[in-house]
Amino acid sequence: MNTKTDFLIIGGGISGLTLAIKLARLSPANEILLITKENLEEGSTFYAQGGIACVWNDTDSIDKHIQDTLKAGDGLCNEEIVKKILIQAPERINELIDIGVNFTRNENGEYDLGKEGGHSERRVLHVNDQTGQNIELKLIKAVKKIDNIEIKEHWCAINLYAKNFQCSGAYVLDQESVNIHNIAAKATILATGGAGKIYLYTTNPDVASGDGIAMAYRAGAIIANMEFFQFHPTCLYHPYAKSFLITEAMRGEGAVLKDIRGKEFMQNYHPSKELAPRDIVSRAIDAELKRTGDDHVLLDIASKKSPDFIKSHFPGVYDACLKFGIDITKEPIPVVPAAHYCCGGVLTKIDGSTKVKNLYVIGESAYTGLHGANRLASNSLLEGLVCAHECAHTIIKNIKNLHINEFEEWEPGNAVPSTEAVVITQNWDEIRRFMWNYVGIVRTDLRLQRAKKRINLLLDEINQYYWDFKIEKNLVELRNLATVAKLIIVSAISRKESRGIHFNLDYPNKSKMSRPTTLRRPW
Ligand code: FAD
Ligand code: SIN
Repeated sequence: MNTKTDFLIIGGGISGLTLAIKLARLSPANEILLITKENLEEGSTFYAQGGIACVWNDTDSIDKHIQDTLKAGDGLCNEEIVKKILIQAPERINELIDIGVNFTRNENGEYDLGKEGGHSERRVLHVNDQTGQNIELKLIKAVKKIDNIEIKEHWCAINLYAKNFQCSGAYVLDQESVNIHNIAAKATILATGGAGKIYLYTTNPDVASGDGIAMAYRAGAIIANMEFFQFHPTCLYHPYAKSFLITEAMRGEGAVLKDIRGKEFMQNYHPSKELAPRDIVSRAIDAELKRTGDDHVLLDIASKKSPDFIKSHFPGVYDACLKFGIDITKEPIPVVPAAHYCCGGVLTKIDGSTKVKNLYVIGESAYTGLHGANRLASNSLLEGLVCAHECAHTIIKNIKNLHINEFEEWEPGNAVPSTEAVVITQNWDEIRRFMWNYVGIVRTDLRLQRAKKRINLLLDEINQYYWDFKIEKNLVELRNLATVAKLIIVSAISRKESRGIHFNLDYPNKSKMSRPTTLRRPW
């Protein structure tokens, strides 16, 4: 089915929605089509807890925020990009306030600023511990008021249409009608979020299967720094809890980590203890679990703060834990580290532009150089806002040079409906397990080589399956997941040092010279 639009936005999180609003305001005569593969609100943005980092008062300074970001990024940030993004924070956050985001205020009526690991100051604006949900819902409300934005939910992008490094749109599966649309657009923007589903344990929602990164890679874009996958130290450990994060802001308010016998351990790993950068806290927990053989550690806020304080500051975590029978005002929370944030992604400029003409990538799928080898907490929502703003301005500035190039319909060939869904679940489980065990928090050359052998085998199998059977969302995601897993493995193998969140026991030190890892098709 042929569809045409001026701007095709793939993804409805903070970056996709912000971009849609900005494009519509700058150019009301243009058509914008925004698609998401699940319900509009479903994505990492909705689940963000801690908040958005921003220099908001006089005791803080942009320079301190820059220094904290560079320190976390461990020598691989692009300093110019760091400055450009952080300096825009107040302006972009005021725009959120304008559309109704109610950041939490303290008893003096001022915005309450949270503290998180790696930040030298209190600078995290938040809506209690449900910041992302508040932002996402306010953005959706704003988008729905705008006439020239059309939204299609449950439309899953399968692949971009790109020839000679020029993108003309995307093939998209409408999951309800099972039709495949070829959507031709003047500009195509990937705002598809992260890739946490590559790992067995993750804080990410199911949509985070790295689709945008894999599609851009296939279209010829450069992919950077994929070895840097951030693990969040504190994900709820409970047999029935799926991916529930316990915000770092809780440690910012004094919560301490203990082993299951009640012994604190962070003093053995870093002078900032619980507020050390999260790679250090995650590795410390990993080391404790390996040393003791325990399944989890504990995060204790109950003995540090009053029940009233806990309930008013962390209502989301309080309610969620209570559903699993854990009263966090009375007892410590069982936690484990989990895959959280993809610091690498499609290499872009600050405005999302890539090496593929008319293809832009913003939000977690992009690598702008802000995060380097490790992301400072609460800098990613900000990056999504700023890059969406810059992207809108670049696209509208160039609009006279943009044209719709129609392209051929999807060719199903001899594909037949799949009769064996088990192949997809089996491959998916395999990838997630070996990525966790071999390409996780602590790596070795041997484990990485094992992972490489396995992913090559699985990619062959998946590619075969992809062409033989009719397209469905699970298969699209599996193929992308496998591609992104390979990008992570190959990048990790090529980095012969430990830096930021990439830690390889065979090269425990930092090398003197280091630069971002870049990959382009074919590997
Ligand atoms: P997302 O919000 O993830 O949205 C991705 C969108 O792309 C979705 O709409 C999805 O349906 C769509 N999509 C994906 N693939 C396809 C496809 N093939 N076809 C169609 N649509 C597709 N960062 C902070 O700065 N502060 C925090 O406090 C914070 N807390 C976090 C807590 C949790 C639990 C998690 C998981 C992350 C947190 N982060 C936080 C990170 C931050 O939330 C994300 O980096 C950010 O929200 C990503 O926004 P995005 O717009 O790039 O993508
Ligand atoms: C958190 O609330 O701990 C998550 C913050 C982030 O990932 O930036």
